[in-house]
Amino acid sequence: MEMKKVLAAGIVACMGAQLFCSCGKERPKEERQVYMGVAYYDQSDTFINALVACLKEEIQEYEEEGVETVTLMRGAAGSQRTQNDQVKELIDMGCNILCVNLVDRSDPSEIIDLAREKDVPIIFFNREPVAEDLRQWDRLYYVGAIAAQSGVMQGEMAVELIEADPGIDRNKDGKIQYVVLEGEAGHQDAIIRTENVVDTLKRNGIEIEKLSNGIANWNRAQAQNQMLQMISQNQNKIELVLANNDDMALGAIDAYAKLNYTESALPVFLGIDGTDAGLEAVRDQKLAGTVYNDKEGQAEAMAELAIALTTGEGMDRIEFENEQYIYLPYFKVTQRGAENLLKRKNR
Ligand code: BGC
Ligand code: CA
Repeated sequence: MEMKKVLAAGIVACMGAQLFCSCGKERPKEERQVYMGVAYYDQSDTFINALVACLKEEIQEYEEEGVETVTLMRGAAGSQRTQNDQVKELIDMGCNILCVNLVDRSDPSEIIDLAREKDVPIIFFNREPVAEDLRQWDRLYYVGAIAAQSGVMQGEMAVELIEADPGIDRNKDGKIQYVVLEGEAGHQDAIIRTENVVDTLKRNGIEIEKLSNGIANWNRAQAQNQMLQMISQNQNKIELVLANNDDMALGAIDAYAKLNYTESALPVFLGIDGTDAGLEAVRDQKLAGTVYNDKEGQAEAMAELAIALTTGEGMDRIEFENEQYIYLPYFKVTQRGAENLLKRKNR
């Protein structure tokens, strides 16, 4: 609350200054103030927290170029209605650019209407609205990654591991018994990652047998519970655990630790994201690998676009797909890569 007051006062003061300038002889050339409102689906999501922290840093770097920046953040605790109210509040407070990580990616209409009424452009991120909705207005954008690519990469990593180590097929039946831990139902990254990882294994001639799957909503604790159930149903049959993100892969590892499994009796675990905890687990060989979801790249692209949209400079330098989309590539991370990424971070 206090913070809000301070920022609100800041915004009002800045606006006052701008008005003041425009009364004088020298009118400011362009708007050099970026009041960025960031609305995200849930403040307990590891990846999103890291991503919005990067975004804040990225936008602040433009201060050096003489752009004044204010960032206001709002987490919606999983409620679209709360998020709609937050967006309204952010617009009322004077934000001139919005970055929105929808709670329900099929329900952006109210937010779009609110923003459009005040001509505030929106950069959606990470939770991709359906294409029809993004076409509602030409000041709507999406920054994210191609979900299918992460599934394929996770599958390729699994193929390589299985081909290199016959011991992964513990019961020596020529098939890999696997389970999947899935993110939220309806999230593009959950459905598409799962489809693509399984397809990639099959396409590469790996015989697989699905034992079970569980939805754990991207969450470590939920994944641990799901995994405990799957272990009790399948005893020692599970040879491979495919998780739609690192937090859920770590939750699966937690489940085995809770049951005191020895290292040699563990299945292979694979995640996606390259969160700090995920990278540490890859470095420590607890997680066989992960696929990096380039939050730094996404944050940088969002900041660049936010600056261009508010100052009117630099739009021509940005490369879009289908005019409104920016996708950053994923990349695979094994032990060496994890070490390097962690070193870079701690520098
Ligand atoms: C990430 C998840 C995250 C989700 C939130 C996905 O891209 O991989 O870790 O929970 O986005 O929308
Ligand atoms: Ca087997």
